Amino acid sequence: MGVGPSGPTSRSAGGGAAVHRETTAARPVLKWAGGKSQLLETFLHCYPAGLSTGGIRRYMEPFVGSGAVLFDVAARFLLDEYVIVDRNPHLIRTYQVIRDQAPALIERLSAWQELYWSMGSRDREGFYYAIRDRFNAGQDPPLDEAVALIFLNRTCFNGLYRVNRQGRFNVPIGRYDRPLICDAANLLRVQQVFRQVDIRCGTPEDVLDRVDADTFVYCDPPYRPLTTTSSFTAYSEDGFGDEEQVALARFVKACDERGAAVMLSNADPHNIDPADNFFDDLYRGFVITRVPARRSINAQRSRRGPVMELVITNYPVTLPGPAPSTAPQSSSEGSRSRTGARV
Ligand SMILES: C[S@@+](CC[C@H](N)C(=O)[O-])C[C@H]1O[C@@H](n2cnc3c(N)ncnc32)[C@H](O)[C@@H]1O
Repeated sequence: MGVGPSGPTSRSAGGGAAVHRETTAARPVLKWAGGKSQLLETFLHCYPAGLSTGGIRRYMEPFVGSGAVLFDVAARFLLDEYVIVDRNPHLIRTYQVIRDQAPALIERLSAWQELYWSMGSRDREGFYYAIRDRFNAGQDPPLDEAVALIFLNRTCFNGLYRVNRQGRFNVPIGRYDRPLICDAANLLRVQQVFRQVDIRCGTPEDVLDRVDADTFVYCDPPYRPLTTTSSFTAYSEDGFGDEEQVALARFVKACDERGAAVMLSNADPHNIDPADNFFDDLYRGFVITRVPARRSINAQRSRRGPVMELVITNYPVTLPGPAPSTAPQSSSEGSRSRTGARV
């Protein structure tokens, strides 16, 4: 069964073909560093054909963040099962609260929205930092924690989740006139989607046993930093360095060996150093497609330009228009996946 908000949605005519998309589809509740909303149109051409032909019945996303791709896949295709995983316990508990207690959550958020909108800037500041302290104390039951996380995400500077080395949420207040703290309609749509989703706190390895030939696994790990000052990896108290990227490649290869279709995205190191072949080497034998992303890698506005994102798959990808660099890599070892990529 598809999990479009108003029942099953129509199937895609083929991976990458134009498909029907519910205009009232569930959208991410949270703004998240590295969120993939901007890339969904491109990703449509990168999804495996099995999503539309029926060969794939389970979707798995082990670094789910805001879930932009999860909601896109859920709105477009008819699948039986969804498994999402993230290491951030606040995020995962918030998703579980949306699934299990959406009406109570909406009631609380809507009261906070009314209150916040009625406040002047000094009162708003007092309220915001009190909620932030309380959230960081970590003693709240899940419903209160979810209300706080959504509130902070909607009212903080730039709407991002960022923690310091001690794991404390440290984003200052943002200046928005009437921030939408309670999007009740979307929360109810998200609840509909989440009713069919196994929502887990953990790491990709925790769900490897659920991966089989009917599974599409999409991995969007913390970015490997493009510059020494880039803070794209600051999602959680413990960083995600090259060692973790290598461990993730082992997970991806294990999924491939189980016959799953796998897609992974990351920042392209060539944006900074054309000689940095870290991912090209790590994923030799996979299909590596470079797609333009709207993200910026330079803090100086004048020097901001388009950057490329890597999309790594174990099946062929064809992008429309003038062909960007799609490079099937060759490899002399490894097994052949069901989609033909040698890994
Ligand atoms: C780039 S973000 C994912 C963004 C997501 N694709 C979106 O559209 O919002 C990476 C996510 O991985 C999570 N994460 C970091 N290390 C992890 C690990 N070892 N296992 C699972 N999740 C992890 C972070 O909490 C973060 O939510």
